[in-house]
Amino acid sequence: MNKKQKNIALLAVFIIFVIGLVFVIRFFNLNNFSDDNGDSSLSHSYKAETKYDNIKVFTNEEIKNDKRSLLHIAYPVTESESVNNSLKSFTQEFINEYEEVSKTQEKNYQDYLVLNGEEAVSSVTEYTQHFDISFANDKYLLIVFHRYRFTGGTGSDDAISLLFNRETGQELPLSSLFVDDSYLEILSEKSRDLLNKKMLENLKLVSFQNKKAKDDWLEMTVEHVLSGTEATKENFDSLSISNDNELIISFDKYQVGPGSDGVVELKMPLEELSQVLAPDVLEIFDIEKSKKKDKEEKKDKINSADITAVDCAKEKCVALTFDDGPSVYTDELLDILKENNVKASFFILGKSAKIQPDTISRIVREGHVLGNHTWNHKNLSKLGDDGVEQQLSDTDDLIKEISGYEMTLLRPPYGAYNEELFGKTDKAVILWNVDPEDWKDRDTELVTERMSLAEAGSIILAHDIYPSTIAAIPEVIYNLKQKDLKFVTVDKLFSEEALNSNKALRYQQGL
Ligand code: NI
Repeated sequence: MNKKQKNIALLAVFIIFVIGLVFVIRFFNLNNFSDDNGDSSLSHSYKAETKYDNIKVFTNEEIKNDKRSLLHIAYPVTESESVNNSLKSFTQEFINEYEEVSKTQEKNYQDYLVLNGEEAVSSVTEYTQHFDISFANDKYLLIVFHRYRFTGGTGSDDAISLLFNRETGQELPLSSLFVDDSYLEILSEKSRDLLNKKMLENLKLVSFQNKKAKDDWLEMTVEHVLSGTEATKENFDSLSISNDNELIISFDKYQVGPGSDGVVELKMPLEELSQVLAPDVLEIFDIEKSKKKDKEEKKDKINSADITAVDCAKEKCVALTFDDGPSVYTDELLDILKENNVKASFFILGKSAKIQPDTISRIVREGHVLGNHTWNHKNLSKLGDDGVEQQLSDTDDLIKEISGYEMTLLRPPYGAYNEELFGKTDKAVILWNVDPEDWKDRDTELVTERMSLAEAGSIILAHDIYPSTIAAIPEVIYNLKQKDLKFVTVDKLFSEEALNSNKALRYQQGL
């Protein structure tokens, strides 16, 4: 090496040293920063860096009987002897079970060999246990174990969560994440909603031989979901928390679906559960306990989902509209729409809304559209200016008072209007182009058949005041979904210009 080369080498060493130094300084700075700085904008990434420094992995493997008996287990080792002992005995139970099962399996294998002079097809026993640290700070440690058992021909997956108080070393029940046991009802309800959505997605992928096959599949699936999500501690024995502040519920294999689904995971934002989360949990995850905020967020979500879900310029849209309610049957209809994830439009009467304000609030909360159908079903073409004004504004005011909702759509009773009406209101006048005449024929089958004739761009007229009509809706929804039609609120069928055009609207393609 000559002098020049030496200088270059020294320079290189120096540069590497400086880069290294910068890294070290940065590292320490970041650590100090996140430890000392209470700035809430940093708290999220800080929380994601859980304190794993004192947690190590203990792993063990056991292979016996010429690889017919396999065990692979892992569990965390922490700074607390008490926590470690709990984890060890928790794991030992699993190992004991494995020992017993593998012994029986091996005996069966040997017996078969003696009896038949050849090996049984499937004689492997495999038990594995892994874990994830769901959450760890100075005070709490939440661990999720995944256990897999394979014996002979079938396997099962389980997910189990264990929660510890790291200061005392005590294991805590998962319910201590919550204020009281009411969380079970809430998790049950939310899980059912999510799983129903999933089921409807799956329904699109499966083609059925006939309606009976479809009904059987639906019945079986629904039963499975209902029993697996009943509000019991056993059903919700595996909860964890993601880095994005979501509660993750893991359902064991077979718990809420067929074995091919394996372990099913559902996620829900912790914020949505703020009412039932324990004060400690709220503090750790920086969650504001606010009913109002929850509600607003929910509303926002529904609306934005609505807007982004379907683009009627690209997809085949259809609108279900219901007149003359709310009535004693409207809540049942809302249940059906909710189950099927369908949004509809309700042209309501002021006099009935006054009696059933809760139904109006629910219609709005669940993302449907409200339109004015006058106060008491007056024929607007026969009313003078003052009469029309009063019919509409009384109803508008009441709905706004009940729900804060401002109605921009109008359906005149009997579809009766004259040109003068457009001078008296800014509302878009919405008519229809599929009429099942459900007011005349109170016959579910007939009404189903007629409503099912709808095609792209149809506005279906129906009335949520007849039980025969309500009973038709599940089948109508199914039939129209089979035609690949997407349900939208009626305003989505029209452009802004059309809605502001001051004319009566029946949907036509391209409008
Ligand atoms: Ni009417």
